[in-house]
Amino acid sequence: MRQLDNIKTIGDIGNIGDAANLVLNTAPAAMKATLGLAIYDLWQQGKLDFSFTTPPPETPARPDKPELVWPTKVPKRGISQDQNARSATLHALLHIELNAIDLAFDIISRFGATQPREFTDDWMCVARDEAKHFNLLADRLEKWGVVYGDFPAHNNLWQAAIDTQANLGARLAIVPMVLEARGLDVTPKMIEQFISAADKESAEVLKIIYQEEISHVGYGVKWFEYFCRKNSKKPNEYFHLLVSQFFKGKIKPPFNEQARTQAAMNENYYRPTNTG
Ligand SMILES: [Fe+2]
Ligand SMILES: [Fe+2]
Repeated sequence: MRQLDNIKTIGDIGNIGDAANLVLNTAPAAMKATLGLAIYDLWQQGKLDFSFTTPPPETPARPDKPELVWPTKVPKRGISQDQNARSATLHALLHIELNAIDLAFDIISRFGATQPREFTDDWMCVARDEAKHFNLLADRLEKWGVVYGDFPAHNNLWQAAIDTQANLGARLAIVPMVLEARGLDVTPKMIEQFISAADKESAEVLKIIYQEEISHVGYGVKWFEYFCRKNSKKPNEYFHLLVSQFFKGKIKPPFNEQARTQAAMNENYYRPTNTG
């Protein structure tokens, strides 16, 4: 377990906005995860005010490695007997989880002041989960001698954050409801593939992540529908409008209907032909 030893500044943080910004402005990856968990505890213990004084950075601090490359230049991954290919796959997930930590603290810092306190409570739970996911994957990779930064990665996730930084509805539509929901679609198959490759430990890590990601999509739906009620928008229609404006790809099947339903996402969000 990574220890929080040299973070002096955390004691000086008085409010949740500054605490979230501290995580965003922390570059070392393991430290970002550790700080995130510490700030979750402080929030739970009532030691941080529900106030926001400074906006978040546009781009969070990150370590020098991994090198960020075009998605087509990311090394070939796989889930097979080849441990190097499995390392590349887990490293890609580790990179996603690091982005997810920053995305959770960014949504709190950027939009928390405009929303009920419960919004911050919910996204703090997401931040805690993402930091835990980062640590689980980092620990798994460490056994193979792999650390964060050993493989190149791409920056698509943070680009989605920048594209949606002025519009909470768009942020909720694209990040939890398109991208994290896509994770629910693909993860069960990955778990099966890790089991087939006789890598039960990695499969167990992915099972934990999968279960917790369902709640993240659920928070996305919950706050997107709250946003729509406040702004007199029809959720399904507005979602598809935002996706057409802010998401470059298409929402593609196969869909994990069971997990999406568990997250309270009705099928009109992902079957455009049914809207109207
Ligand atoms: Fe995660
Ligand atoms: Fe997540």
